[in-house]
Amino acid sequence: MELNKIYIGDVLEVLKSLPDNSIDLAITSPPYNKGENKKGWLVKNVKYKGISDKIKEEEYQKWQIEVLNEVYRVIKPGSSFFYNHKIRWEKGIMLHPIEWISKSNWHIRQEIIWDRGIAANIRGWRFWQVEERIYWLYKPRDKKDLIGDELLSKHALLTSIWKIPPEKNNPHPAPFPIEIPTRIIYSIFDEEKNKIILDPFAGSGTTLVAAKALNHNYIGIEKVKEYADFAKERLKNYQQELPKIKEELKKHQVKKSFKERKARGEFTGKHKPKTTLF
Ligand SMILES: C[S@@+](CC[C@H](N)C(=O)[O-])C[C@H]1O[C@@H](n2cnc3c(N)ncnc32)[C@H](O)[C@@H]1O
Repeated sequence: MELNKIYIGDVLEVLKSLPDNSIDLAITSPPYNKGENKKGWLVKNVKYKGISDKIKEEEYQKWQIEVLNEVYRVIKPGSSFFYNHKIRWEKGIMLHPIEWISKSNWHIRQEIIWDRGIAANIRGWRFWQVEERIYWLYKPRDKKDLIGDELLSKHALLTSIWKIPPEKNNPHPAPFPIEIPTRIIYSIFDEEKNKIILDPFAGSGTTLVAAKALNHNYIGIEKVKEYADFAKERLKNYQQELPKIKEELKKHQVKKSFKERKARGEFTGKHKPKTTLF
């Protein structure tokens, strides 16, 4: 397995070539199987070059379960996969990612709400959907290990709702904002370095850039060469993205420790808890 490389090819073919239990963390956003929707879109439809993002939903979910299980195989026990998806509707029927994730081998550790602050579809069939989901999936070390290691408070304080606007300055049709993989990597590894981070649908390489900037190794998989080439350029010039990455890192801080808050009686009723955490 070669580190710090983007494999250009099909996700399952490449994943199958990677060894068992070899990856420390995976982060991804797959294609969403949304297809064309001409009605009521505020932002333009996502269209990948040379790839159809519309297959039969049943086939799509089967494919995603296969990908989830291959990532499970290559991940080390005690490690995590952050899988970004969203709730969709097809002909009025809700399609929830939990449906297929819970058929995979993964243990679901948390559902994080990514509040993008902007809706794609502004018709009034429902309240405007401004959020996507990020599933924190966990590979237990053994049958008793369903909780895993604890996050440091400075990371856990960022809560389960992540208010991060979508990325605007990227020619890829559906890129992550760099804050998302940065938040995940820093929260999981804190100051540890040299871990191996995988993004099986690497696109413009946002996960890989965050991994490199935080001194880790990366492996990306991407079918479209043009996106992979763009990602390689980004990786060469990763310093340009450091200001945004540093802004995200600054958010990981505890202003008052648990001990200090306890000493003030914040948990015993002597003082009322503050309404805000920060
Ligand atoms: C939502 S995008 C990922 C964007 C990425 N997070 C970023 O920040 O740029 C999904 C990517 O999966 C790629 N893709 C779709 N089908 C694939 C397949 N079978 N194998 C590998 N990559 C695929 C698409 O070309 C697209 O770049």
